[in-house]
Amino acid sequence: MSELPPADYTGKVRNLYFLDEQTMLIQATDRVSAFDVVFPEKITGKGKTLNHISGLWFNEIEKCGLQNKYSFYNHLLTTQRAEFPAPFNDFSELEGCSALVRRTKRIDFECVVRGYLTGSGWKDYQQSGSICGIKLPAGLQNASQLPEPIFTPATKAAIGDHDQNVSFASMQSALGMELADRLKTISIAIYKHAAKKMLGAGIILCDTKFEFGILDDKVYLIDEVLTPDSSRYWKSTDYREGTTPPGYDKQFIRDYAESTGWNKTAPAPNLPQSVIEKTQALYREIESQIENLLTAV
Ligand SMILES: Nc1ncnc2c1ncn2[C@@H]1O[C@H](COP(=O)(O)OP(=O)(O)OP(=O)(O)O)[C@@H](O)[C@H]1O
Ligand SMILES: [Mg+2]
Repeated sequence: MSELPPADYTGKVRNLYFLDEQTMLIQATDRVSAFDVVFPEKITGKGKTLNHISGLWFNEIEKCGLQNKYSFYNHLLTTQRAEFPAPFNDFSELEGCSALVRRTKRIDFECVVRGYLTGSGWKDYQQSGSICGIKLPAGLQNASQLPEPIFTPATKAAIGDHDQNVSFASMQSALGMELADRLKTISIAIYKHAAKKMLGAGIILCDTKFEFGILDDKVYLIDEVLTPDSSRYWKSTDYREGTTPPGYDKQFIRDYAESTGWNKTAPAPNLPQSVIEKTQALYREIESQIENLLTAV
């Protein structure tokens, strides 16, 4: 068997193979990043776990009728290696961790939806009483649920830069009102659907990020959806307003990295084995929760 060729694009976490004008393969690797910097160690199994979770949600979003209702498509063709075009069906490194997708013209905004106040949103709120220019009620605490989920877009930064939070008005002027409004409506609708489902399994979907692209004048949901890399998941039983609930996501790694005094620029600190193992366990736990929830008959 020949060797997997070098990727056409190496992201922080995923490798892309451009197959033709309209299709590409996304390989989710075991790399992990925080504050936009990749750590030296790998989290074995993470790529498979995240590819699986994203695939489950893509299917759910299609099946539940949201795509029909809001006239959008999703990029996923298959996660089955046997269905990848040759020679990629032959590479065992792609097993379980890869997706054949439609290649779109990416819209350079991160479509972030927040149902709860935490992280950078909590910091903004403490300083200004608002997030991305959206005024919020007074008296909210860390992890408070917001009266309604809010849409707080960010621009996709060039390589090496951090994504920048922007106002919805600036997204509207960049994309046009109609497209910006659509992406906002779709993002909030998917968030609400997923948050309601997860709550049934005792898990709070705090916030999440979607990406969209355009192909043949149609809007596509792309990238990864509702994974613990793109979302914050909290266990309801651990939830206390006024504290940062322990999450099923990279928060554990972020907290560790911050505790070392790291200044959040490359190079990232080494991760001890205990942090790697705990992270693996958290990813696997949320995977099995989502799998049970979305594959139940
Ligand atoms: N269907 C698609 N069409 C076009 N681009 C896509 C599609 N799905 C995902 N992408 C892009 O593929 C890349 C996936 O790699 P990864 O997420 O590791 O990159 P990254 O380092 O996080 O960079 P970025 O900040 O651009 O997300 C992202 O740039 C994402 O926007
Ligand atoms: Mg990315």
